[in-house]
Amino acid sequence: MQLPPRPTLFDFHGVSMTRCFTDNWDNVQNFQARPDDILIATYPKGGTTWVSYILDQLYFGKMCPERQTSVPLHERVPFLEICIPSLPTGKDLADQLPTTPRLIKTHLPVQLVPKSFWEQNCRIVYVARNAKDSAVSYFHFGRMNHVQPEPGDWSTFLQNFIEGKMVFGPWYDHVNGWWKKKQAYSNLHYMFYEDLIEDSGREIDKLCSFLGLSPSPEEREKVITGSKFDNMKQNKMANFSSVPMMDQKVSPFMRKGKVGDWKNHFTVAQNEEFDEDYKQKMKDPTLKFHTEV
Ligand code: PPS
Repeated sequence: MQLPPRPTLFDFHGVSMTRCFTDNWDNVQNFQARPDDILIATYPKGGTTWVSYILDQLYFGKMCPERQTSVPLHERVPFLEICIPSLPTGKDLADQLPTTPRLIKTHLPVQLVPKSFWEQNCRIVYVARNAKDSAVSYFHFGRMNHVQPEPGDWSTFLQNFIEGKMVFGPWYDHVNGWWKKKQAYSNLHYMFYEDLIEDSGREIDKLCSFLGLSPSPEEREKVITGSKFDNMKQNKMANFSSVPMMDQKVSPFMRKGKVGDWKNHFTVAQNEEFDEDYKQKMKDPTLKFHTEV
């Protein structure tokens, strides 16, 4: 497959976007959610794939084991707003999902989520990751994924991250917007990548309690083991190795899977500037991130 030219950013309803996520806009906005749909929402690189895998295993690991080995995770958990020429749209994949519940992924900021998810009172799992590691992961993703704008060098990318010139807009608005939504919408489980790293069993238990699931001890153990970074990295159905737009030789999708890799990227000066700006934008004392565990 010939790789498409790199897309460019433009302003879309006040958020930086590329055409891959806006070309199917009316269909996405008119998506008909069902009451039992589960939406997995994150800012890019927040832990979407990890939590998608966990939820897919919890629901279907025992019931449909053949799906785990024959259908890539990105088809089991479609990316609602994606629209790439000559590939099925995320919205169509979601419509065609044979499972109940349907697990659906989005990176949309909260104000752009199709209204039927709210009308149907769907359960939503939001995963947030600290800004510094999100920026680093997003940078490497931009290098390897031709559906992303050209990232430039690290310092250019970091500056753009601070200014919110990223696909899906500023990290700061995204995590804050969803955090505020949680106060008003009770079917939203807000979780953190760093907590999953610290104790995935504990976080899976919280997810199960939110979703009303009671896996057996063996099922629970299987989900914990299968979702370990090294196992997902080897899993061809979860590591995006079948996606032609991603050049995994430049940087693997399952890259490091750690908290604190930002320390290998930020200079002292970049870190100071970042922290100063962060203080201005992250005023809500109830929303706290860990940058190390
Ligand atoms: S995407 O493209 O926005 O959907 O990416 P997303 O899945 O949200 O984030 C990718 C980062 O998550 C890491 N990852 C994991 N970390 C720990 N354990 C597991 N199982 C796991 N699965 C994915 C992945 O490696 C990316 O982070 P970095 O820091 O780049 O390694």
